[in-house]
Amino acid sequence: MHSTMKILHVLATLLPAAWCAGHGHAIHNPIIPGWNPDPAVLRVGDEYFIATSSMEYWPGIPIYRSTDLENWELYSHAFTRPEQLQLYGTPTSAGAWAPSLSHIDGKFYITAVTRWTYDPVAKVWPRAFWVSSPDLKNWSDPTWADPWGIDPDLFQDPVTKKVYLNIMAPNNNVDRIWGISQCEVDLRNGPCIGEYRSIWNGTLPHNSTARPEGPKMFKRGSWYYLLIAEGGTDELHRATIARSKSAEGPWEANPNNPLIYNGAYGFTNLTVQSTGHATMFETKGGDWYAVFLARRNINGKSPLGRETFLCTVDWKDDWPVFNNGEPILLNDASEPKPIPSPFMDTFSKSKLDSSWYQLRTPYTETYSLSRRGGSKGLILRPNVFSLSERDVPAAVLRKQTSLNMTFSATLLPVKGGSFGPRQTIGISAYLSELQHQDIGLTGCAEQSGLCVYTTTLNNGTSEHAEYPLNATKVQGLTFHIRAEPLEYRLGYSLGKSTVTWLTSFPSSWMAIAPPNWFVFDGAMFSLFASGNGEPWPMNAPEVGFEKAKEVYYQEDIPDYDDW
Ligand SMILES: *[C@@H]1O[C@H](CO)[C@@H](O)[C@H](O)[C@H]1NC(C)=O
Ligand SMILES: *[C@@H]1O[C@H](CO)[C@@H](O)[C@H](O)[C@H]1NC(C)=O
Ligand SMILES: *[C@@H]1O[C@H](CO)[C@@H](O)[C@H](O)[C@H]1NC(C)=O
Ligand SMILES: *[C@@H]1O[C@H](CO)[C@@H](O)[C@H](O)[C@H]1NC(C)=O
Ligand SMILES: *[C@@H]1O[C@H](CO)[C@@H](O)[C@H](O)[C@H]1NC(C)=O
Ligand SMILES: *[C@@H]1O[C@H](CO)[C@@H](O)[C@H](O)[C@H]1NC(C)=O
Ligand SMILES: *[C@@H]1O[C@H](CO)[C@@H](O)[C@H](O)[C@H]1NC(C)=O
Repeated sequence: MHSTMKILHVLATLLPAAWCAGHGHAIHNPIIPGWNPDPAVLRVGDEYFIATSSMEYWPGIPIYRSTDLENWELYSHAFTRPEQLQLYGTPTSAGAWAPSLSHIDGKFYITAVTRWTYDPVAKVWPRAFWVSSPDLKNWSDPTWADPWGIDPDLFQDPVTKKVYLNIMAPNNNVDRIWGISQCEVDLRNGPCIGEYRSIWNGTLPHNSTARPEGPKMFKRGSWYYLLIAEGGTDELHRATIARSKSAEGPWEANPNNPLIYNGAYGFTNLTVQSTGHATMFETKGGDWYAVFLARRNINGKSPLGRETFLCTVDWKDDWPVFNNGEPILLNDASEPKPIPSPFMDTFSKSKLDSSWYQLRTPYTETYSLSRRGGSKGLILRPNVFSLSERDVPAAVLRKQTSLNMTFSATLLPVKGGSFGPRQTIGISAYLSELQHQDIGLTGCAEQSGLCVYTTTLNNGTSEHAEYPLNATKVQGLTFHIRAEPLEYRLGYSLGKSTVTWLTSFPSSWMAIAPPNWFVFDGAMFSLFASGNGEPWPMNAPEVGFEKAKEVYYQEDIPDYDDW
């Protein structure tokens, strides 16, 4: 780390004011840590709201709120009823993608797409829809738009009051070369009511890897702006912009594109990579900012996926300049990022805290919050599915929000009944149905009684180990995941005893996509129980968790990806 700090010092002189310096105060990026890609931002008076993608997780499309641009709280979710979002058999990273937020004629709108599956046999394409709300909390059923494509955006021209749908769509069904298309829409029931046409293909050579996406349209002064992302969401990701005197074009590209592109400094150079998919906004005081997605690379991999970042915007000749034209660095040396206070959940409220997610649209009860006899706790209702299936296992998951933290959870007492080798309850460092690292309790396979087990999954290879507890009952069994930038460890403790660490794995296992696949999500921590292919036995005990806890430590992440 010391040599890194020295390099950083030297390079800092080459990159003056290199962190994302705020108009007045330092910005601690990422502003919403943990995977939160494709941020769309909207200011409402003195409040700011950001909606992000939620992929295969339920409920869909989290909305965060802030009054100071620094502290963001989870405010609501747009899709909370199965009528709004059907995720059945949805593979990792499909699901609800790239929301846009608009305020039109006194109502809020979120427009997004659901990518139900990628299965080429199914031949279903993502189609755009929107939901509306009077308060950003309670959202309507969907209204489906005509075009197919991704990253839809609703823009009302403040002059003509026409409402446009801008969307990344293919030129045709055969070549699939994508660009930004537009039509005027009828907001009430969805159809295009104007010509559907291609409006901008961005700045890169226009082939199938160019991917002009994430259109966000807005007006400032006499100019209309069309802000987009290009290069795909990985290393080549960037933000670019065009402007016009009309919402219908023609569009003139910014001579200084891209607005932001950390990859320009090398894909292995800066920690922050994949900067793009931006939305711009103006504060009440007239300052401009942009939110965008970026990854924090740790040795070339980003276990937390794509997070939400913020930077300043200034205007020059009616063109925006992001972050003074500098790349995004992580650290503002004068003021380290405060360490968040621990999170503790004793499951004692009437509803599960909204920071817990389920996988896919739930259609059976997989948990409840009261135990037999009435006391509180998270009771899981295990079914035949495990974390490896594309269904709804009995599991709740929270986003991993720090690169240096501990996640731990204490089981309710397990006693009596049959708890065999097929029944499992535990916790997991979870990335997808193909990549999750579990520690839990099961009936021992080789002897009688209960065993702690670990199962790790890497690139299609599974490793399983069991550790006998020499008991048929347990009380105060706590599982622990210690997550550090380069390594995760799995362990357990009984009562107040110290933690026994059983296994570890590199953090890249939480980031590398399996062969022929890709991962758009980031790491989660899960509480789960499963019958692993069989219904939970009638005489098996009620299982669940008494509490879950997260403790965060200082995140000393260098500006350059040099470990
Ligand atoms: C939420 O919105 C739905 C659909 O617009 C409406 O039927 C329902 O009454 C609303 N619920 C609340 C609590 O406002
Ligand atoms: C974008 O590219 C497509 C496919 O090559 C082309 O049909 C379309 O006219 C282009 N759009 C613009 C605005 O240049
Ligand atoms: C598209 O163009 C870029 C830049 O010229 C090139 O690197 C890339 O390989 C091309 N992709 C395809 C599919 O031709
Ligand atoms: C990182 O990028 C900066 C700015 O272009 C450059 O000065 C520096 O040499 C690069 N560092 C490495 C290790 O490539
Ligand atoms: C994953 O396994 C495949 C073979 O199944 C191999 O080609 C690939 O290199 C492996 N990836 C990593 C990151 O180890
Ligand atoms: C259970 O017994 C085995 C064999 O004596 C021992 O190795 C293991 O440490 C014991 N487990 C616990 C949790 O005490
Ligand atoms: C993580 O936290 C531990 C405990 O506070 C600390 O010793 C370590 O330096 C931290 N690691 C990083 C990369 O910040």
